[in-house]
Amino acid sequence: MNRSQIEPGTLEVLDLALDLASRAGAIQRARYETDLDVRTKSASIDLVTEVDRECEALIVEAIREARPEDGILAEEGGGHDESARAWRWIIDPLDGTTNFAHGFPRFCVSIGVEFQGERTAAVVYDPLLDENFHAVRGAGAWLGSRQLHVSDTRDLGQALVATGFAYDVHESLDDNLARFAQVLKAARGIRRDGSAALDLCYVAAGRLDAYWEFKLHPWDVAAGCLIVEEAAGRVTNAAGGPVPPNGDEIVASNAHLHAAILDRMKT
Ligand code: IPD
Ligand code: CA
Ligand code: CA
Repeated sequence: MNRSQIEPGTLEVLDLALDLASRAGAIQRARYETDLDVRTKSASIDLVTEVDRECEALIVEAIREARPEDGILAEEGGGHDESARAWRWIIDPLDGTTNFAHGFPRFCVSIGVEFQGERTAAVVYDPLLDENFHAVRGAGAWLGSRQLHVSDTRDLGQALVATGFAYDVHESLDDNLARFAQVLKAARGIRRDGSAALDLCYVAAGRLDAYWEFKLHPWDVAAGCLIVEEAAGRVTNAAGGPVPPNGDEIVASNAHLHAAILDRMKT
């Protein structure tokens, strides 16, 4: 990333986000496959561990200390969402909690930062692979020192696509299964890896060609959306319009496949 091109205020935010993601990631690495206190939230399959809360506390307290003027929206409730503040941090302290609780090695820290309501800086850190995805609006998306670019796949039949299922899947009829079947029958392969933030980063890195999910939350997508866009990918809702601020509906792709994926979203 060419740091000299980035406005100093944004650079300061990026550096803080990088540092906090790395520190929270170190906690996750240390606690991976250890005894955890696992509790449930909105449903019997919606989990939270003390590591989610510890990571969130570390991140939120450090932002409050360094930048008391900023708004913070954090998944486990540790923030104080002041949407009117110029800078607003949107934090998923541990994206992939089900994986983490089961010792399945796919989870991350996700920190997205908006300036005046616009996605401006993003960091997603995978502590086990030590992969640091980050982006600044207008300055590209990066994995460490490597600039990211989405894949060039133009045929859905050659595409690897990911999705996810919401925690109300046991009860809700709006369960994503029809869309899953439609993409499964058309794509080369389909994955359900359990971390929305990493799924988006993998689209940016060209490891996935597309990803969609419904019923997400702002913290699942705040960082990943900017990372995809800065890697020349496309992120929309299921109708091809802007992603709703609550993250409820997201279709991300390498841009070439966008129309084909949107077509498969019709049920
Ligand atoms: C979940 C993961 C998962 C997605 C769920 C999310 P969490 O986040 O991103 O991949 O399918 O919809 O809620 O609960 O692990 O932070
Ligand atoms: Ca999440
Ligand atoms: Ca989480």
